[in-house]
Amino acid sequence: MSGIKIAVAGTGYVSLSLAVLLAQHNQVMAVDIVPEKVELINRKKSPIWDEYIEKYLTEKELNLKATLDAKVAYSDSKFVVVATPTNVYPLGSVLN
Ligand SMILES: NC(=O)c1ccc[n+]([C@@H]2O[C@H](COP(=O)([O-])OP(=O)(O)OC[C@H]3O[C@@H](n4cnc5c(N)ncnc54)[C@H](O)[C@@H]3O)[C@@H](O)[C@H]2O)c1
Repeated sequence: MSGIKIAVAGTGYVSLSLAVLLAQHNQVMAVDIVPEKVELINRKKSPIWDEYIEKYLTEKELNLKATLDAKVAYSDSKFVVVATPTNVYPLGSVLN
């Protein structure tokens, strides 16, 4: 296998886009806390609506695995990309 081992935290709009792009040339582990999302990605289905993510998952040769096991993914990777929700506002949103 070629490329660098990279973990991506989250499988949302930012994180899954990055994971899919990076997985063209690297060994990527996408980590999420939602089992259904992990399962879908491992079946090459996108859990979010995004034309290019859907297209890349089905048409490109990707080195991408999704997992719930953050410890294994992060400890085994050279880089970790974090694109999870941020809780900068204690009540959830600046609008609250
Ligand atoms: N979407 C945008 O256009 C945009 C623009 C600028 C900044 N951001 C920032 O980027 C980050 C991600 O945004 P998004 O739109 O991709 O969010 P999203 O809600 O689409 O995805 C976030 C993902 O992270 C997962 N997650 C939550 N906690 C986790 C954890 N502990 N470990 C692993 N996965 C976890 C969620 O289940 C979800 O799949 C946020 O901080 C957001 O503020 C997003």
